[in-house]
Amino acid sequence: MLALADFPYRRARRMRSNKWIRDLTEETSLSVNDLIWPIFLIEGNDKSENIQSLPGVSRLSIDKAVEASKIMFDRGLGCVALFPSTPPKLKTESCEEAWNPNNLVNKATRIIKKEVPGLGVMLDVALDPYNSLGHDGLVKDNKILNDETLDALSKQALTQAISGADILGPSDMMDGRVAKIRSTLEKNNFKDTMIMSYSAKFASSFYGPFRDAVGASGILKGDKKTYQINPANSNEAIREIAADLREGADMVMVKPGMPYLDICRRIKDTFGVPTFAYQVSGEYAMIEAAASNGWIDREAAIMESILSFKRAGCDGILTYFAPQIINNLEA
Ligand code: PBG
Repeated sequence: MLALADFPYRRARRMRSNKWIRDLTEETSLSVNDLIWPIFLIEGNDKSENIQSLPGVSRLSIDKAVEASKIMFDRGLGCVALFPSTPPKLKTESCEEAWNPNNLVNKATRIIKKEVPGLGVMLDVALDPYNSLGHDGLVKDNKILNDETLDALSKQALTQAISGADILGPSDMMDGRVAKIRSTLEKNNFKDTMIMSYSAKFASSFYGPFRDAVGASGILKGDKKTYQINPANSNEAIREIAADLREGADMVMVKPGMPYLDICRRIKDTFGVPTFAYQVSGEYAMIEAAASNGWIDREAAIMESILSFKRAGCDGILTYFAPQIINNLEA
């Protein structure tokens, strides 16, 4: 540590004595530029459905999602991430809805890119919203197949790029997916499509409300521990990041967020690449639950939670709180 004067010549509180000096010496800050807003989509028109385990977040029909995106774009938001709540009848074991050019996310992407061209659109590459077995990969005899899944993911990614998605986010944790997707993009001349890999994605208990939101909770058999990372591991996360960067990822992501801030910091210090965190559904739900009981101050807790990601070295955060954060920043 640097040599510091001893008390009383050094008084740390001097630098905290007024708002202006606290602001002047603030080490990290938050702005609208740090945010990606995840939106859940449903079929239909003029529809908005509450999600019980994500109070304050709704599933929106495409028209409503476009309208909401436009409003947020006008307030400075740079990017949305779209997730489909696929009708159960379209979920199959072979997951072909994932590469249907007219599935919910592809349709919505085309419309957003037309109506709000300046807004970035990010799409998840993974099979779980389309899989009748709820897994991110193809399943055979209770095993999640790696290499067969890569072909499916590559078809899914290509349709998403054709629809106009700016960022593809492989969130499936199959081995070799980034290389496969990047080579498919290159072969098809999608040179500018970005990949933000969910590289350090942990087998977490914090994804529950998301699985409710996309209708995967009831159908998921078993868990995702054969492909997502063991929460006990840090070196393994670093190896996954290194591999995804070598395979052609432009940006990497840690997921969940707050329980894994040590991983964010390690990634930033080790690789110095654009690093993102996903403040996942369970993290959102915890803050909402405590706040609605009056146990914590909602707005202050939201802002503090987001600032923790910046302090840990993240460039940006995917968060369901994006609209509230923008309200708070504007206040
Ligand atoms: C799908 C996916 C998940 C999330 C984002 N993409 C869930 C999972 O892996 O089960 C979780 C996001 C959240 O909890 O908010 N591969």
